Amino acid sequence: MADTLTITDNRTGKQYEVPVTEGTIRATDLRQIKTAPEDPGLATYDPAFMNTSACRSRITYIDGDKGILEYRGYPIEQLAEHSNYLETAYLILFGELPTDAQLKTWITDITLHTMVHENIKKLMEGFQYDAHPMGVLISTIAAFSTFYPDAKAIFDEQSRKKQIHRLIAKVPSIAAYAYRHSIGRPYVYPDNDLSFTGNFLNMLFKMTELKYKANPVLERALDVLFILHADHEQNCSTSAMRGIGSSHVDPYSAMAGAAAALYGPLHGGANEAVLRMLNEIGSVSKVPDFIKKVKSGEGSKLMGFGHRVYKSYDPRAKVIKKIADLVFAVTGKNPLLEIALELERIALQDDYFVTRKLYPNVDFYSGLIYQAMGFPVEMFPVLFAIPRTAGWVAQWEEMLLDTEQKIARPRQIYTGPVHRDYVPRDKRS
Ligand code: CMC
Repeated sequence: MADTLTITDNRTGKQYEVPVTEGTIRATDLRQIKTAPEDPGLATYDPAFMNTSACRSRITYIDGDKGILEYRGYPIEQLAEHSNYLETAYLILFGELPTDAQLKTWITDITLHTMVHENIKKLMEGFQYDAHPMGVLISTIAAFSTFYPDAKAIFDEQSRKKQIHRLIAKVPSIAAYAYRHSIGRPYVYPDNDLSFTGNFLNMLFKMTELKYKANPVLERALDVLFILHADHEQNCSTSAMRGIGSSHVDPYSAMAGAAAALYGPLHGGANEAVLRMLNEIGSVSKVPDFIKKVKSGEGSKLMGFGHRVYKSYDPRAKVIKKIADLVFAVTGKNPLLEIALELERIALQDDYFVTRKLYPNVDFYSGLIYQAMGFPVEMFPVLFAIPRTAGWVAQWEEMLLDTEQKIARPRQIYTGPVHRDYVPRDKRS
């Protein structure tokens, strides 16, 4: 059988045959379908990109029905068990797990860039004490573009590499600075003897001790959370990174846009929204009433539930549930856990959620862990942005090197007034 699709245009009676490749047809192949020579040709209408592939990618694979997530072919469960964040970031960027020597060089490359320019600190000092750290992070990432004008050379491989090192290394530093600023504590300089995650915890929590040493269980738990959040194919923020980057702007400006997309409560801001929701519910006995309100549309959505792609349990949420037990053994149980478990128990057997295939996503349990580790809720989306940096820059570079990509520019169906003449102000009713 031919790998083609035959289309009959009932408006004209004409037939067309278009190729089917990798389960898709090219939207531009539909342009030939016209009712008259001046007709611009048939287009597709797909608000929110429900069924449109905007790129070909070799980075992350998701099977939403089966709950599968793989980076470069490696299952997320195996990476969470055996890998660490920096190794996973290398895999995401370069396509293969590093050898010992490659990993060593990679760690040195990142570690060399953890410091930020002193003027960045001054810039951050200008924010109000109660500035949301995600707003601070977004603005500071954008400001980086003014510190590194060499980043404009996006088609220079060495320059791209340098900006990628800088971004992966410096985002935790500014995230930690944003946190310290919000609580009025002095900034802590990076300690390059520590691991990527150990150093991040050092920059957040070091007080007067000469050397900060994180609890190894918590350090590993955070590192696994970083692995789980490192990439997730063409989600809202990654599409923003690719879309903005397609204008050939520098990666800092593009990533500020991606981080802004992540901030929203429907995306990476959901972990913060989950915690606020659990606090609002307040006790297990109030869960049935809350679920009733969600279903009637009277209340908000059940935050941390549902996903555009996963129509089964989010594989990241499964791993997170396991880590939660390890973390709570160190920190003590988060009292909100009982409410979360009850919400999940009721939702998973309720017809509303079952028929819509709504399951817990990555954000449902992550906030409980972050809170138990001592992070304020405002830091939760920031903790998502730190590891997602690897995914954003890998997807950005893949987009730049893809010869099929051009500036992202969707079409529209215009529904406004057609042509009319300007009316002077004194003649308007
Ligand atoms: N609570 C209650 N109802 C929901 C929820 C929810 N969390 N999510 C979806 N629905 C309903 C929705 O109202 C719709 O019902 P109906 O068919 O009667 O209109 C149906 O389920 C389909 O939902 P949708 O809004 O068409 O799905 P979507 O693919 O456009 O949205 C989503 C996906 C993640 C934005 C949405 O599920 C949601 O808002 N969830 C809560 C926010 C959240 O947890 N976001 C984090 C996503 S995972 C982290 C990340 O990668 O960003």
